Amino acid sequence: MKKIIVKDNLEGAKAGFEIIKNELEQGNLNVFGLATGSTPETLYALLRESDLDFSNTVSINLDEYKGLEPTHEQSYNYFMKEKLFDAKPFKKNYLPNGANPDGEEESAKYEAIIQENPIDLQILGIGTNGHIGFNEPGSSFDSITREVDLVEATIEANARFFESKDEVPKTAISMGIGSILKANKILLFAYGENKADAIYNMVEKTPSTDCPASALQNHPDVTIIIDEAAASKLTK
Ligand code: F6R
Repeated sequence: MKKIIVKDNLEGAKAGFEIIKNELEQGNLNVFGLATGSTPETLYALLRESDLDFSNTVSINLDEYKGLEPTHEQSYNYFMKEKLFDAKPFKKNYLPNGANPDGEEESAKYEAIIQENPIDLQILGIGTNGHIGFNEPGSSFDSITREVDLVEATIEANARFFESKDEVPKTAISMGIGSILKANKILLFAYGENKADAIYNMVEKTPSTDCPASALQNHPDVTIIIDEAAASKLTK
């Protein structure tokens, strides 16, 4: 696992931007795996304002809340349109359809899309509990796309985007840890002291389903871009 420790979110976004730009220019970014949440927002702002051309690239997002229409303001479909896709056209954008009442059917469809479009570069954030995508602690390292229950800590963390905690969906469709590990290259970003325990568990503890992100220790090409606060519990 390669570590890049930066001063703040903007410096992290710039470091990530350079890696993405390089992959794109080398012709290595045909399928781009994307994340939502507050962590990649600055990176997406840099991509929006850049002259990078994604019109030959397919994007595949990690997850979507179940029960929200793609037009719902808190849906990840809406987030991606606002933060990136409206400004930067891609060849095709894939996100799960949270409005499909049949979560099993939607998950199978989405997993097939990932199989048909192997991800070249996957962007990840990390939850304070070590989740990646919506793979909460206990998720199997070979899990594939499925309907998942969000744990209380995630509902509480994401309540900041909703009017109240009660409005946060309790389930989601998420790529599995096994699906994520198939990506050729992975870039994980984390900022702030509240991510320090998760980063320590991911990097230094023996891989365990208690920290889903620790599965990344088994992947050959992971770069983590973290600020000093998120790195503060690392000992090595
Ligand atoms: C988002 C996702 C989540 C977030 C994580 C961190 O698509 O899959 O795993 O990356 O919850 O969220 P933020 O960036 O809001 O702290």
